[in-house]
Amino acid sequence: MRFDGKRAVVTGGASGIGRATALRLAEEGAQVLVGDIDAAGAAELADASDGRIAFKRCDVTRADDLEALMNQADVDGGLDLLFNNAGAGGAREGIDAVEPGEWDRTMALLLTSVALGTRYAAPPMARRGGGAIVNTASVAALASGFAPTAYSVAKAGVLHLTKLSAADLARHGIRVNAVLPGFITTNIFTRHLEIAEEARAQADGMIAAVAAKAQPIARAGSPEDIAAAVCFLLSDDSSFITGTSLLVDGGMTVGSRASWDPTSPTLFEALDAFK
Ligand SMILES: NC(=O)c1ccc[n+]([C@@H]2O[C@H](COP(=O)([O-])OP(=O)(O)OC[C@H]3O[C@@H](n4cnc5c(N)ncnc54)[C@H](O)[C@@H]3O)[C@@H](O)[C@H]2O)c1
Repeated sequence: MRFDGKRAVVTGGASGIGRATALRLAEEGAQVLVGDIDAAGAAELADASDGRIAFKRCDVTRADDLEALMNQADVDGGLDLLFNNAGAGGAREGIDAVEPGEWDRTMALLLTSVALGTRYAAPPMARRGGGAIVNTASVAALASGFAPTAYSVAKAGVLHLTKLSAADLARHGIRVNAVLPGFITTNIFTRHLEIAEEARAQADGMIAAVAAKAQPIARAGSPEDIAAAVCFLLSDDSSFITGTSLLVDGGMTVGSRASWDPTSPTLFEALDAFK
């Protein structure tokens, strides 16, 4: 029970990575407040949680919503832990076609939300004598080819923001770290696509099949894989760790596919055919 007596806020907790993390925190003793725009998903989660997970509607692109979420946690009994996690795919166009408004909306959702969530969580955490914050970045922060440009740039910003937040907040006893998920099977890939109900199971099956082969560890990454890493970074098990990031990607970023996938030969293996 690593989180006995702890009070946590999880943004984007109604689904996927946030949901799995809220459940794990609650299982290990925390009282959790989920902030999300999906009231139905959050209500279903709260029902499954034995009174340990509460919900407050919060659109993380709105500063006043984020301030109200952190204030709610504070008046309910204080705030020790924050998982800045809400997100979606954002603008899909390349840099030669992206609309300025879409770019701004993507930054607001994925980067400014993390800055302002931290901004409003820090004072109540400092009043408790310290705390821990984890921000969700992505392997897309490291290289092209994983996600659209605006999303990837925002996630790279989250990594730098994590370091600067760790520096700013160390004096208050608050640690700040980031997690970089690889390919994790959640609703994020289909949520905004208008996929017909009858095609949904097929689309989910396709995602699971691709996810199982996307990295050296030959299975699909799950929300629970990320929750385990986030709970490590939120717990006292990581009490000497701040300002860093943890890759949880099944090895997806170790190197070129040919280095780990026997069905994808290296140049030298391909040349063997000419011997
Ligand atoms: N799934 C992956 O492969 C993957 C990989 C790397 C990073 N991530 C990141 O993980 C985080 C969680 O994504 P997920 O995969 O669990 O997706 P998901 O769609 O299952 O969950 C995202 C949650 O965020 C909420 N949300 C979206 N916009 C919001 C807003 N404006 N205000 C409040 N809540 C909002 C949604 O309602 C949903 O509950 C995101 O930041 C995402 O970028 C996901």
